[in-house]
Amino acid sequence: MRIASVADFREAARRRLPRFLFDYIDGGSYAEVTLRRNVADLAEVALRQRVLRDVSALDLSTEILGQKLALPVALGPVGLSGMYARRGEVQAARAAQAAGVQFTLSTVSCCSLDEVAARTDRPIWFQLYITKDRGFTREMLARAAGHGCPVLFFTVDLPVPGSRYRDVHSGLHAPPGPASQARRLLQALGKPGWAWDVGVRGRPHSLGNVAHLFDRQTNLLDFLKWSANNFDATLTWKDIEGLRASWPGRFVIKGILDPEDARAAADAGADGIVVSNHGGRQLDGVISTARALPAIADAVGDRLAILADGGVRSGLDVVRMLALGADGVLLGRAWAWALAAEGGAGVARLLEIIEAEMRVAMALTGTTKVSGMDRSILA
Ligand code: FNR
Repeated sequence: MRIASVADFREAARRRLPRFLFDYIDGGSYAEVTLRRNVADLAEVALRQRVLRDVSALDLSTEILGQKLALPVALGPVGLSGMYARRGEVQAARAAQAAGVQFTLSTVSCCSLDEVAARTDRPIWFQLYITKDRGFTREMLARAAGHGCPVLFFTVDLPVPGSRYRDVHSGLHAPPGPASQARRLLQALGKPGWAWDVGVRGRPHSLGNVAHLFDRQTNLLDFLKWSANNFDATLTWKDIEGLRASWPGRFVIKGILDPEDARAAADAGADGIVVSNHGGRQLDGVISTARALPAIADAVGDRLAILADGGVRSGLDVVRMLALGADGVLLGRAWAWALAAEGGAGVARLLEIIEAEMRVAMALTGTTKVSGMDRSILA
């Protein structure tokens, strides 16, 4: 099947990946209410059709957090991407850079910051989780600064991990032991294309930024255990001030869903926020980002850069997020599916599709520039 949409990439990823990995990407927490709301509320946002306004020359470029981007879009942090395709973070980062779009590396990536930095042309953005092990946090900050990462995303909506039923059913989060291991192995054996690409050609495997914390070769379970034990529920706004002071570049807080918290982020000296509920993977039942965004934009839109994510499945959705008040949009599952389906070429194709869809939406809302995509294009 020729890929025409994000939905096609999802289907191709479902066919290619072992079930435990597809479900890890695709799933949300608990009953997945917020995950569905993110998609449905965004799709419901109606655009205002305008005609006869000379839309022959469209400019999709923009500047966000001091960086020129070809599109108001970036690849957001998605953990374990090196499991979806061989050296997945490197492939995705290179595809993004070739398209003039930024790539954000997750703390919990398979390829380390050093590897991705060495194999890309320009500095990438980096996402940090503060761990109980503050030595690790300090070390990651120093490494990111050393590689010239211009922007740090600090993710704050994970003081405790949300429970995802699908990961329990698939064997990813089942109690460790031979039974769940056998289930994952069986799923992997049923996907020879993936097993050859990632399992064989993707060697050596490691868990990038955290690998050196273990005294032997890390595996997925070591990592999941480390991360579950290391999220720090004691963090407060005071820690943010300290972190802000110790980071030389732009500082973005990811995981804001409330205008009061958005104001606190601006007061703490953040240069930007990401309006996000972690793609419906944390507290199920919270509102969608599409619904949260307008009030947050009203509260702090003139004080810092606003990025948004959650449920973006097309270029039209990017335009909708901009119309609701975002300056830029992070893609999450969309790029993970594209990477799983077709590697870096898939991510490149995804960005072409997003751009083409944005162009149609701009032309038919009578908008020629990114700055024109505001509430005036909402019906
Ligand atoms: C994520 N997300 C995420 N966020 C983050 O700050 N650090 C991380 O390591 C991860 N890891 C991660 C893995 C997977 C498989 C997914 C799907 C998501 C959240 C991500 O950055 C983003 O907020 C959501 O994915 C946005 O929602 P959509 O677009 O995927 O619906």
